[in-house]
Amino acid sequence: MSRPERDWDTLLRQALDAGINFFDTADNYSQGNSERVLGEALRGRRQEAIICTKAGHTLGSAQRLPSGVLKVMHKVGRSFGPARRALKAGRQLFNGTRFDSTYLTHAIENSLRRLRTDYVDIFLLHNPPLDALTSADLAKVIHSFKDRGLVRYYGVACPDAVTADYIRASLCLPELSVIELPTHPYVSDLFFDVVDAVKNKGVAVIGRTPYARGKIFDDKQFLRIVMTDPTNRTPAQMALRFAIQLNELGMVLPGVSSLPHLEDTLEGLSAPPLSPDAFDRISALNA
Ligand SMILES: NC(=O)c1ccc[n+]([C@@H]2O[C@H](COP(=O)([O-])OP(=O)(O)OC[C@H]3O[C@@H](n4cnc5c(N)ncnc54)[C@H](OP(=O)(O)O)[C@@H]3O)[C@@H](O)[C@H]2O)c1
Repeated sequence: MSRPERDWDTLLRQALDAGINFFDTADNYSQGNSERVLGEALRGRRQEAIICTKAGHTLGSAQRLPSGVLKVMHKVGRSFGPARRALKAGRQLFNGTRFDSTYLTHAIENSLRRLRTDYVDIFLLHNPPLDALTSADLAKVIHSFKDRGLVRYYGVACPDAVTADYIRASLCLPELSVIELPTHPYVSDLFFDVVDAVKNKGVAVIGRTPYARGKIFDDKQFLRIVMTDPTNRTPAQMALRFAIQLNELGMVLPGVSSLPHLEDTLEGLSAPPLSPDAFDRISALNA
């Protein structure tokens, strides 16, 4: 839930009505607007939702520009490849991370205000670097959030380039309940590597980006598997079901920002599991 300029209110309410109750956001998605629209859509319905937010990414200079300027930059970026690449590089250059207690306390208080709630169900450290994961301060500050009732469970949101070692280091954090991991065909080996360690800790996995951020829809090999499968699913339904089966330790989180995609997702959720053959063929895909 990070893209601006959509009718999020309608989309979120329709998702809630259809029984979707897990919403993932972050303080830096769309400069805080992602949390704002979620808080707005959940007015009077807070109890129906599980809210997961993240902190630790400071807003880069590019993201702090007024939203009107950003809109123009996004439009230009979408139209011209070189502009898009420059925008992305600039963002990365200016973005930083902070996981000290002052910053995180400020961040959670601001997130709660934008989300119009007293607590979040899940608070994730947003792609912390390895050295932040081992800081004693970090465990203390999270413990204080739980003590104050601001956070029910906490965890680590892992970066795209996550490794098995990074996951094992995250699992050492005291009171850790959740990790959020990329969960799509191109990372299936990672899952097979860590499944036992995660299971032994009793930690839940939020499997994010089941479509590899859209990349799966351009993968000719994947599309061939979809076309030759007898179950007649759409590519998204096939990838979603694959992610659900891959992530036996938790749930799957697709990014959906239109009503047709929401309908496709809902239809896919009621479809039966993939055959072992289809699962193995999708697991074998390489990025
Ligand atoms: N490190 C982190 O913590 C981290 C990093 C990345 C993402 N996340 C979380 O994971 C969520 C999902 O990530 P994501 O959205 O980047 O990746 P994704 O779920 O793998 O892919 C989203 C892309 O697939 C498209 N799509 C969705 N449903 C579709 C359908 N039925 N048919 C065809 N295309 C479809 C979306 O288009 P539309 O937008 O047009 O629907 C979008 O372009 C994010 O919202 C965020 O909450 C966390």
